[in-house]
Amino acid sequence: MSHPDRFLLAGVMGWPIMHSRSPKLHNYWLERYGLVGAYVPLAIPASGLEAALRALPALGFSGCNLTIPHKEAALRIVDEVSPLAQRIGAVNCVVVREDGSLEGRNYDAFGFTASLRERAPDLRFDAGPAVVIGAGGASRAILAGLIDEGVPEIRLINRSPERAQALAAEFGGPVRALPWEERGQALHGAAILVNTTSQGMVGEAPLDLALEALPVDALVVDIVYVPLETPLLASARTRGNRTVDGLGMLLHQGRPAFEAWFGVDPQVTPELRAMIEATL
Ligand code: ATR
Repeated sequence: MSHPDRFLLAGVMGWPIMHSRSPKLHNYWLERYGLVGAYVPLAIPASGLEAALRALPALGFSGCNLTIPHKEAALRIVDEVSPLAQRIGAVNCVVVREDGSLEGRNYDAFGFTASLRERAPDLRFDAGPAVVIGAGGASRAILAGLIDEGVPEIRLINRSPERAQALAAEFGGPVRALPWEERGQALHGAAILVNTTSQGMVGEAPLDLALEALPVDALVVDIVYVPLETPLLASARTRGNRTVDGLGMLLHQGRPAFEAWFGVDPQVTPELRAMIEATL
């Protein structure tokens, strides 16, 4: 909590880091909630991660976010890893505890499901199958989120089939790996479609996926947010599907982190979204 003799501090460690929108997000909230402090970009190469994390308590930081390339490495550095971060295999938020020890958490799954709730308040996660494209780090957080929300069937499809099979075996439950060649067919009867790959991002090719088999009442989600409307979302919108862009996941994953560090549960408002959108 804000304290007259303590300047609140948090930041994001990554390499490179200057592209990160997290400083804009958290500094907006610090000001909005009248807290005196700052959230700073921390350019930390992989070789410096452990020393940088260990310095957080001495510097008076409440914690930090982690981005590429640190999310997996941090698992082995922090003193305790939350069960969800362990399951996802990545830490995106570190909390400095009273005794100076470090706890690793992951709020990416929360950010994903909260973003869907915000954009599609009537969405029922148990309404039908989800199709998830991609089997990288982002996919792991999204699988955890969908499973924990009770999605009854998850069709996991990746260009390299062995990665999808490995993830399906690891997560188990409703997750089933399907061949890349069957991605169009796999959309039959789906309630949610999620792209977790970088395809569709500025500078990348669009995701190679024909939507004909997708029900028009399915929700189509992209984790890419530059551009805000990817070719996938544009074609989904044109044929009548509701769409959710990737910016909401970024904004919502920040909420529990901000609360853990500073004791205030911040809101994602249209004003905040517009402010970040203007930087894309
Ligand atoms: P992240 O941690 O951001 O998810 P990643 O672990 O590098 O990044 O995963 C990238 C994902 O995008 C993978 O699922 C990758 O598929 P492969 O496992 O086959 O590499 C997917 N991807 C990248 N380029 C792709 C392309 N041209 N077509 C289809 N999928 C692609």
